[in-house]
Amino acid sequence: MKLKIKSLSARTIFDSRGEPTVEITACSKKHCASASVPSGKSVGRMEAAVVSAGEAAPVLEKVSEAVRGHSFASLRALDDVMRRADGTERKSKFGGNIMLGVSVAAARLMSIEKEIPLWKFLKNGFFSHHTHKQAPLIFSNFINGGVHAPNNLDIQEYMVIMRVNNSYADSIEKLAHLYRRVYDAISASSGTRAIPLGDEGGYAANFRGNFEPVEIIEQCIRAARLESVCSIGLDAAATSFFENGEYVFEGERLSPSALQNKYEEYFKKSKLLLSIEDPFAENDAEAFAGLRGSLGLGWVIGDDLTATNPRLIEQYAGINAISGVIIKPNQIGTVSETCDALNAAKSNGLDTIVSHRSGETEDTFIIELAKAASADAVKIGAPARERMAKFNELIRLYD
Ligand code: PGA
Ligand code: ZN
Repeated sequence: MKLKIKSLSARTIFDSRGEPTVEITACSKKHCASASVPSGKSVGRMEAAVVSAGEAAPVLEKVSEAVRGHSFASLRALDDVMRRADGTERKSKFGGNIMLGVSVAAARLMSIEKEIPLWKFLKNGFFSHHTHKQAPLIFSNFINGGVHAPNNLDIQEYMVIMRVNNSYADSIEKLAHLYRRVYDAISASSGTRAIPLGDEGGYAANFRGNFEPVEIIEQCIRAARLESVCSIGLDAAATSFFENGEYVFEGERLSPSALQNKYEEYFKKSKLLLSIEDPFAENDAEAFAGLRGSLGLGWVIGDDLTATNPRLIEQYAGINAISGVIIKPNQIGTVSETCDALNAAKSNGLDTIVSHRSGETEDTFIIELAKAASADAVKIGAPARERMAKFNELIRLYD
């Protein structure tokens, strides 16, 4: 069965930060399907270019000209036609956001026409050789700092990592209780009930240093007796505090090795700390490899470093800089290349964490993708507000 796209249209919608983004609708003769695209704030330099929502309509007209008249036997065939017509390395003509919107909407359309669930369509097309199934871990953001919050933390994200033993509904309920317990603990230690929230729904109070949030989360996990299913993950997003070869951390200028010492100390002090994402800047891969060598079982994860790019994933897996990768479809800009990135990570033995962005919509594509690829984890923000769409999709797809 081949897909002929009859029309493409775009409209502006607003993301969780109140910023404009695009929703793309693709129609065949019989059906229509839509997709909305999130946006990031700590954006890596290797990410696909973004076309503003205001410019979306004329750009989409050019994409329509490129795909019109074709009958696509696969999603990859459509993505390849768009890529060739764009013709730039970082998708600066069409924008990775516009191309991803078209690619996801077309994937939905193809799955509707084949009468199979979206995750199954993606699995058949890109991951048919993976037979094992697993329930992905949930990386849930509890405390925000860095560019995601107006507070004094340099580290951008403090997450609870939850393993799901029974049902997602049961685990998400425990996670939501834990999120409220952490609120109570921060409120008690800061003496106020008014705690601001960061971009991904984590608490954004001021703390006595970058390690205090780890201690608070750890105490709460232990008090809730969840230490057998919960651990802690950090996203330093360190490019945001990298200046002239040094890291500006807690008011001091640290060399990469001095920062590595701090992280090692954190992992020694907290038995529940399991992972750290972007511990160093995106152009400091050697420092990643140093930490990876010294942490042993701790996960060192690339996000800005690898930018969901299969070539970069291979490169950094090759020098042992990372043990896992963040996969964000809008960093690369098409579904088929996102799947290539997942497969590159898997064939290099890396853990895969399919992730949202800080500016999110209620689109749940990433959960379908995680299921299709049997990803190791999903990273989906705090268990609250607009982020619940992803949590609820986990329940729908797995329970
Ligand atoms: P972003 O941040 O979506 O603002 O880029 C998320 C992350 O760094 O993981
Ligand atoms: Zn990150």
